[in-house]
Amino acid sequence: MRRKLIAGNWKMNMDRASAVALAGALVKRAAEVSAVDLLVCPPSTYLVPVGEALGNSGIALGAQNMYHEANGAFTGELSAAMLTDVGCKYVILGHSERRHILGETDADVNKKTKAALAAGLVPIVCVGELLAEREAGQTAAIIKRQFDGSLAGISADLIEKTVIAYEPVWAIGTGKVATPQQAEDVHADLRRLLTERYNERSAGVVRILYGGSVKASNAGDLLGQPNIDGALVGGASLKADEFLGIAAAGVWR
Ligand code: PGA
Repeated sequence: MRRKLIAGNWKMNMDRASAVALAGALVKRAAEVSAVDLLVCPPSTYLVPVGEALGNSGIALGAQNMYHEANGAFTGELSAAMLTDVGCKYVILGHSERRHILGETDADVNKKTKAALAAGLVPIVCVGELLAEREAGQTAAIIKRQFDGSLAGISADLIEKTVIAYEPVWAIGTGKVATPQQAEDVHADLRRLLTERYNERSAGVVRILYGGSVKASNAGDLLGQPNIDGALVGGASLKADEFLGIAAAGVWR
């Protein structure tokens, strides 16, 4: 049985005071949704104060990106060890905004994934097709290419410590959510790719999150699908009520 993971990707939003206030609001009510795992990923400048606000609430802290090198002359970058040093347990890698706005490739995501795992961070590796790719019937091929490229050379032991997020690019920040069946089809495909590359047991351990316009009002149907093990939430994670509403929808599913 995979425990549901509800992850908030705050992206480049908020200031210090509002980030700490949001974390505090989540902490107050975390006990209501203790049957699911909660994670928040604030901008890196607010990792420390948000981590302090989360305290020992059980809500995990994560980063939105990192660089694969351990240290050195990489101006503007952060290493995996720097993230664990400030309390991060997770890191989002290969988000579509990084792939499509900042030019990250599968090879980049692969190097980061290996570095994150080596440092004991749980990588949340994102994959997802563009609208044009879906309309051209290429969804399965794109997902397989991103899966193969981003997760190349990861052992069965380490894949069990990895989270995958399926985020159709056309559903991110657009209000256009994939139907539960559209999402489940891709999640089942990913589970099949995991089974083929590893084995049924390892494939059964990996949590596969759905992301793209998840809200409290649509989360129940998505989280009720057999291969949807949680949500990666952008916009709706900036409001405590919405985020906790999504988590509550995951409790019984
Ligand atoms: P959204 O973003 O929930 O605002 O669509 C999801 C994501 O990009 O992780």
